[in-house]
Amino acid sequence: MQEGGISRRTFVKSTAGFAGAAIVAGSGLLAQNPAQASSQATDPIHVVPFDFPKDFLWGSATASYQVEGAWKEDGKGESIWDRCSHTVGCVKGGDTGDVACDMYHRYKQDIAMMKQMGMKSCRFSIAWPRIQPTGTGAVNQRGLDFYGRLTDAILAAGIRPLPTLYHWDLPQALEDKGGWPNREMVNYFTDYAQILVKSLGDRIINWSIFNEPWIFTAFGYWRGIHAPGRTDEKEFFRSVHVVNMAQGQAFKAMKALTPNLQIGTAFSTSNCEPVTDSPADHAAADRMHAFKNTLFLEPAMHGRYPKFTPDSSGEDLLDIRSGDMEIVKAPLDFIGMNYYSRTMVEDEDANGAIHAKTSSGKQGPLTDFGWEVWPDSFHDLLVRISKEYLHTPIEVTENGCSYGDSPLTDGSVPDERRIDFYRGYISAVGRAIKDGANIRGYHAWSIMDNFEWSEGYSQRFGLVYVDFRTQKRSIKDSGKWYSRLVMTGTLR
Ligand code: FCB
Repeated sequence: MQEGGISRRTFVKSTAGFAGAAIVAGSGLLAQNPAQASSQATDPIHVVPFDFPKDFLWGSATASYQVEGAWKEDGKGESIWDRCSHTVGCVKGGDTGDVACDMYHRYKQDIAMMKQMGMKSCRFSIAWPRIQPTGTGAVNQRGLDFYGRLTDAILAAGIRPLPTLYHWDLPQALEDKGGWPNREMVNYFTDYAQILVKSLGDRIINWSIFNEPWIFTAFGYWRGIHAPGRTDEKEFFRSVHVVNMAQGQAFKAMKALTPNLQIGTAFSTSNCEPVTDSPADHAAADRMHAFKNTLFLEPAMHGRYPKFTPDSSGEDLLDIRSGDMEIVKAPLDFIGMNYYSRTMVEDEDANGAIHAKTSSGKQGPLTDFGWEVWPDSFHDLLVRISKEYLHTPIEVTENGCSYGDSPLTDGSVPDERRIDFYRGYISAVGRAIKDGANIRGYHAWSIMDNFEWSEGYSQRFGLVYVDFRTQKRSIKDSGKWYSRLVMTGTLR
């Protein structure tokens, strides 16, 4: 969805405005920022050798709409991403997830490949419209059976399954009823969560409730960048609270059915760094941290919203009713962190009530998605979240980069820049563990190139190259590198 010409790829940059320009120009602002000034001389991708624990959960991640295809097979209903991708102008190049990586049919080979690569954990997501085609009511048994077969294949390969209940493919029928701003969603989502636990809870212990609740509410209802493409700030804030309630109620309902489940959510995270050392920019960076990183974490862990506005206006936006703050509580068993890049922040009139202007970092190299490579920021946020949430186990549920390297005539796919990226970011994980962060797993995004939302197939995030005409998979050099790391646990 490219509302007003803005896509997710350009979103962060477009909010940079004057601040970003000033940093690029190397003005006095740089010298005022100790973080930027001190790290300027160092290599952004510096690797500190590290031996990861023997039982560290190395894996990779995917999401249903991005890889499965089979968009209307076996009774599946329409999702908001089916609707978007079938609407002219919604996805770059008119690309759709109708076929994607065809994993719905090829999952056995793909899991065999993960096994061959030595993966210990497989993060995937379940498409709600396969389970309940219109989001409520009777179960579509054929859809449920697919995830049963998938789970069994993952387990048979000796890999731990880590499903996400919701990675953005909302049944279109629920969007037609108002989507996430509608409070009835809390009960619909809880019913769906219970169906899954009743069917798979005997074989799957670890579950992630949501993928990136901040992204699918902000980009779907406020910024119009992702399906369903709405642009209403009020609806966004209402959806934030509804999603928090859905998270809390589903968590409790799942535990009530099977108490030994280990349940978390995969949050989108970004280290928020002040552009200058001024107290006002520091305060703005803290507000942005609260807004971007803990808006769905703090309610779950502590039954309260973090302070994300300079005044007390924040909570008024959320439409909180009596009893709600009991519902949002969900003491998560683990915190999933998806990490891609940092956010530079200054105290300016931007982002509505948050009053903080954001831009992307400008010091590191850029990936083909335009995201800055700056692993130190990942280290800092891992340590901060671990400290703030009293060492609740963290799993890195996504981290990766887009580079367009393609196969040579001999079939190999040299992608040195992706190897550099992973070395830098995985070293940041190792350093965070050394500094006391409680991190038990890491998932590369993604095992293979796939449908990248509004960007269609133009962005390749995989460790494995996919030829979308033939569905041929070729392990990239980064995939071979990651496989060696996974098998030895030693970063050099
Ligand atoms: C994350 C999404 C994931 C993928 C990566 C690149 O925000 O969770 O599905 O698109 O970005």
